[in-house]
Amino acid sequence: MSVAFVTGSGGLIGSEAVRHFAGLGLDVVGIDNDMRQEFFGEEASTAWNVRRLTDELGAAYSHHSIDIRDRAALGALFGRYGRDVAVVIHTAAQPSHDWAVRDPFTDFDVNAAGTLNVLQNVREHCIDAPVIHCSTNKVYGDRPNSLPLVELETRWEIEPGHPYEQGIREDMSIDACLHSIFGASKVAADVMVQEYGRYFGMKTACFRGGTLTGPAHSATELHGFLGYVMRANMERRTYKIFGYQGKQVRDAIHSSDVVSAFEAFFRSPRSAAVYNLGGGRHSNTSNREAFMLAERITGQEMITEYVEANRIGDHKWWIGSNEAFQADYPDWKQVYDVPMIMREIYEANVDKWVPGA
Ligand SMILES: NC(=O)c1ccc[n+]([C@@H]2O[C@H](COP(=O)([O-])OP(=O)(O)OC[C@H]3O[C@@H](n4cnc5c(N)ncnc54)[C@H](O)[C@@H]3O)[C@@H](O)[C@H]2O)c1
Repeated sequence: MSVAFVTGSGGLIGSEAVRHFAGLGLDVVGIDNDMRQEFFGEEASTAWNVRRLTDELGAAYSHHSIDIRDRAALGALFGRYGRDVAVVIHTAAQPSHDWAVRDPFTDFDVNAAGTLNVLQNVREHCIDAPVIHCSTNKVYGDRPNSLPLVELETRWEIEPGHPYEQGIREDMSIDACLHSIFGASKVAADVMVQEYGRYFGMKTACFRGGTLTGPAHSATELHGFLGYVMRANMERRTYKIFGYQGKQVRDAIHSSDVVSAFEAFFRSPRSAAVYNLGGGRHSNTSNREAFMLAERITGQEMITEYVEANRIGDHKWWIGSNEAFQADYPDWKQVYDVPMIMREIYEANVDKWVPGA
């Protein structure tokens, strides 16, 4: 028996990973206690996605509403499957800067200690299984804001000719800059994942994501950029822009392009790998540009409110480089760009995201 363990299986990346690895013929064991609902409220619940997985995949998917902080429950589940576990995809997390400030203990317990719980269980029960960890570009803290940027009509851009013109590489320091509470808990997890690779020789990878997106996101104001732009436009909500003249740039990668990268690592794993993974030059947008795209798709104007203060430590410009991953896994191909992603989010939610819903 070959089993894929997916933590955060009801979430954006987790649910995509469940379907993808089930499609490869693995049995999938999902772990998700719908804590996203506790973080962000009812509209962010991922229960609908778990129901969808259970309906679609039948016996190939078994769901466990376990909290990754619960060492005993997690240990029992890993113990039950032991060396049948062929891969562990760890996506469960508290994913928001703003939320982390409200409750730093819970943020750290979920993001840092929860990751340690996963790693230690793999070490004890299925040491050969590759561990794929969803890290984040926030491990670089606000360091990207020290890059020389120029202001264009709809976006900030890096100075032409800069070594990071094609995207920020993993050689950017993660040290001595402002991370936010969330960024710091994710740094702890990222370094621990690397350490279990280096120290114990386990096959581990940190994927430092840019904006990860797609229709499976339970988009809400505090988390889920492109999904929430579409949702705000479709439901006629006011979208708050936090500083930087709305010209802040993010790269955006569709969850299916993310999990195809996970598959490549699963098939040919390494120890202590660290990769930036995002939309890169192929797929990026500023807030303003995303608004224009949303307006074009729905035919309705965005309703926006400008808040002068930017979110603390928020990146003014983030385009990551996928070069390191692409060099190790040359067959991986990115399919989606921002317009394709936004249209797909629209089409998936056209009946659900209506005004007053
Ligand atoms: N979405 C992005 O833009 C983005 C960008 C960079 C990195 N990441 C990282 O990628 C990973 C996945 O992100 P996502 O967007 O799919 O998040 P998500 O919130 O959609 O999914 C995470 C899932 O984990 C579950 N969960 C949270 N705490 C849990 C706990 N204690 N025990 C069990 N389950 C728990 C939630 O209920 C949710 O279903 C996270 O680690 C996140 O930090 C996301």
